[in-house]
This record gives sequence, structure tokens and C-alpha cells, in this order.
Amino acid sequence: MPTVRDLQAMAGEEPITMLTAYDAVTASIVDDTGVDVILVGDSMGNAVLGHDDTLPVTLDEMASRVGAVARGADDALVVADMPFLSFGADERESIQNCGRMLKEEGANAVKLESGPHTIELTERLTDLGIPTMAHLGLTPQSVNQTGYTRQATGHEEAEEIVDLAREHEAAGAFALVLEHIPANLAAQVTETVDIPTIGIGAGGDCDGQVLVFTDVVGLSESSPPFAEQFGDVRGEVADAVDEYIDAVESGEFPGESHSHTEDELDELY
Ligand code: KIV
Repeated sequence: MPTVRDLQAMAGEEPITMLTAYDAVTASIVDDTGVDVILVGDSMGNAVLGHDDTLPVTLDEMASRVGAVARGADDALVVADMPFLSFGADERESIQNCGRMLKEEGANAVKLESGPHTIELTERLTDLGIPTMAHLGLTPQSVNQTGYTRQATGHEEAEEIVDLAREHEAAGAFALVLEHIPANLAAQVTETVDIPTIGIGAGGDCDGQVLVFTDVVGLSESSPPFAEQFGDVRGEVADAVDEYIDAVESGEFPGESHSHTEDELDELY
């Protein structure tokens, strides 16, 4: 299993790959491919739990999914994404919630959707041995303030991202997710900080890339414009289920190989 230091050593040397997973079986498939980091994203809210956004995801739901992913993954670094309001309001509670992901569920690190309010918390968590990944740009937990549109398109907002990146690095963040910001801004952030930047909709100059699993494999009903579909798992699942229904309806399934008989049960009465 790589440590956050191994990941930092990769920055600028080889691209870091990160993908989300929300259960043990998916995590084991993703892990076997050699992905560097598995993020148990709160994107599970829309990706697999049927919500319209990530806000309803609870700490208990996240804990359960982090435990499953940690059991399914042997080699990748497992990062727990802290859900809306599970951090930031009260320091003690934030630390306990983040610590639970490592202590009880087997995560290796946490991710916080970041802003000025997470600088001190990042420092405290890092001091306590809880590696913390920052997340700037589009932070979906702020959807009610920002929507899902491109972020930092103007000077002031772009400079704020650079400043926040520096401040989170100084606070001890081990890596930085940059979401849906201009590629030239992401490139400047990557130049400015020594910690790895991991982009999503942030161009090709970041140290790594992250996408949501269901978008990548073609399981999502719709995907953001910056995602790429590399497979058609939705189609394959539908085909397999269609075949199963046809086989049951035609009487082809179950066949002899799926059934067993006991001679002494031929005549019960
Ligand atoms: O929740 C998530 O999956 C994320 C990634 C998209 C970065 O935060």
C-alpha cells in the first residue's frame, strides 16, 4: 500500500491515478488494475444512492462504504471523503469524525472540501496523524452557492485558489484535488505547490487525474462535461439481465446443472 509520501514522490515523475469506489467488489476490481488512490467519494450520493446531490450523504453511510472499500482494496491508498457538515462546524467533532475513518474503517487518509475554514483543521488533523487531502475549485457540497459550473474564471477567484492551495500546503495537506477550474490556473497551482495536484476537469498539467467510477465505466445515466466514458457497463448489465429474463421465461434456466434431486424424496407419501 503506498503511503502519502510515496504518492508525493510520484508528483512530476509519473501521473497519479485516482478513481472513486463505493463498495468492496468494485474496490477489488479497481485495486487489481493498479490504480494509485481509491477515493470513497461523497459523489456516492448521486452516483449510487439515488440523491440529486452529495448533501444528504451521512457520516454513517460514508463509514460503511469506507469499510467496504478498505476490505476490498489491498494496494491502493484509500481516501475517505468527509460528507457535508461532518467537519468544519466544531473542531473536536471534526477530528473525531475524520479519525473514525482511519481508526474504525481502515481508510489511509481523508479528503475535505476546502476553503478558508479548513486551513486550521487541516493542520490539526495532520498533526494528529490523519493525512488530509484538500479539494479546491468546484466543491459540490457548496452547490447551493455555486451551482456545478466552471469555477475561478476571473482573476480574483483564481488568485484566491492559488492562495488557498499555498495555505493548505503550509497547513500540511498531502495532496490537492482541483475540480472544474481552467487548465492554465491548474497548471499554475501545480507549479506553485510542492504537493501533488490531482485534477478533475482541470486540464492535463496536474500531477494526477481523478474521475468518478460510474462515469468512467459507463454506468451513469449522465456525466459532467469533463468526464470520459471508457466502457459501456450499463449496456452490458442490461444485456445480461435481459438474457437472464429470457432464459427464465423460456424455461432454459434453471437447467439440470443448476438443480439437484434426492432419490429418496421421489415419493414422500
Ligand atoms: O466525491 C467525489 O467523488 C469527489 C471527486 C470527484 C474528486 O470529490
